Amino acid sequence: MGVNGHDDRTQCNEGGIFMNDFIFSYPTKVYFGKDALKKAAAEQLDAFGSNVLLAYGGGSVKRNGIYDEVMQVLKEHGKHVVEFSGIMSNPTYAKVQEGARLAKENKIDFILAVGGGSVIDCCKIVAAQAMSEEDIWEMEHSARRFPQQAIPMGAIVTASGTGSEMNGGAVITNEDLHLKAGMGAFPPAFAVLDPAYTMSVPRMQVLSGAFDTLSHAMETYLGNSDEDNVSDDVALAIMRNTVVNMRRLLKDIDDIQARSNLMWDSAMAENGILKVGRLTDFQAHQIEHQLGAYTDCNHGQGLAVIHPAYYRHIMNDAKEKFTRFARVVFGKESAEEGIEALAAFIEECGLPTKLSQLRSTTEITPELLRKVADSTNIINSNPRALDADEIYDILMECR
Ligand code: NZQ
Ligand code: ZN
Repeated sequence: MGVNGHDDRTQCNEGGIFMNDFIFSYPTKVYFGKDALKKAAAEQLDAFGSNVLLAYGGGSVKRNGIYDEVMQVLKEHGKHVVEFSGIMSNPTYAKVQEGARLAKENKIDFILAVGGGSVIDCCKIVAAQAMSEEDIWEMEHSARRFPQQAIPMGAIVTASGTGSEMNGGAVITNEDLHLKAGMGAFPPAFAVLDPAYTMSVPRMQVLSGAFDTLSHAMETYLGNSDEDNVSDDVALAIMRNTVVNMRRLLKDIDDIQARSNLMWDSAMAENGILKVGRLTDFQAHQIEHQLGAYTDCNHGQGLAVIHPAYYRHIMNDAKEKFTRFARVVFGKESAEEGIEALAAFIEECGLPTKLSQLRSTTEITPELLRKVADSTNIINSNPRALDADEIYDILMECR
């Protein structure tokens, strides 16, 4: 299974849409809740060798005390720790190569990723690259082969939303090629989900991450599927629960119960359960990823801008599904009202509604949007396949 509905899931069943065959197993053991780190460490750490690559981002783990807790646990288990720090949001391929070099030079046995989706994604590809002499970008994107082995890893989630901790996909930005693309690797052996660790995440990132979760469920739901697909019902439940708990956070951003629910919504939306036996959409994600490749914008916030505009374009191609979405998630009657309720909800959350509100490393001009549109991966398993011109129109409507 690829990540985010990339090319490998765009096939269609001959003679109509019905449930696809699948094999299902769950490789990631999840430790959720209070003292999850201690429980995971006691059960897991001794199974791996002593050289540990401890990976983290720009320093939040040092400010909130998670770094100290993790170091303590690693010390108690007699690990030799090599640090790999400074993993940025929207991790770059250059950073992956830096991590792989460190892992090789230090004969790393195990990688511990401590952070949000960016740190976890980066580590998945580091883990695979460190076990291969081939350039892994070339291997996946040109030769269309996926890595066969990787250094084992664990994930300690400090910011939820992407669900990366329970899947084998990663999204990496290749700055030289101006591409932000999904890559396939191996899922973490275990994941620590302690909602208390997310309490220091800034308000805007909490809501952006939660919107990413909502997006994953919507994107899966809107993929072509047979009627009465069980995944549709589960996806709608996750959407509704995500909206309910985001609204709780709007009242009290420190509501740990709401953050706990969102943490599990996040894992559920992108751990593959919703995707078994069906096709997915993920066109909004493809557009956002390319927007990110050119602007380095925040993932959840880019999605918040793109989703309503994209849905207005495809509403008539999936009217029944949008109507059901309107009823279940927002208590509205029609497809149109549902999409407008989504747009209003984005505003209610204070998330960006225009491209001009996104943090961007460069001015977002029509010329730039043309490049984004022309390089966006086109999905064929959504209600209607777009072309680059329509993607450009959507982006221009988002300005
Ligand atoms: O870098 P630090 O200092 O740690 O700060 C981070 C970062 O600035 C901060 N943060 C994390 N935990 C914190 C905290 N701040 C205070 N307290 C804490 N406990 O949060 C900021 C954002 O972190 P990041 O990891 O970039 O965010 P997110 O989890 O949203 O990950 C985004 C990346 O994941 C990819 C996105 O494209 C993007 O590159 N995705 C990965 C997916 C997957 N593998 O399944 C699916 C998604 O669709 C998505 O594409
Ligand atoms: Zn996402």
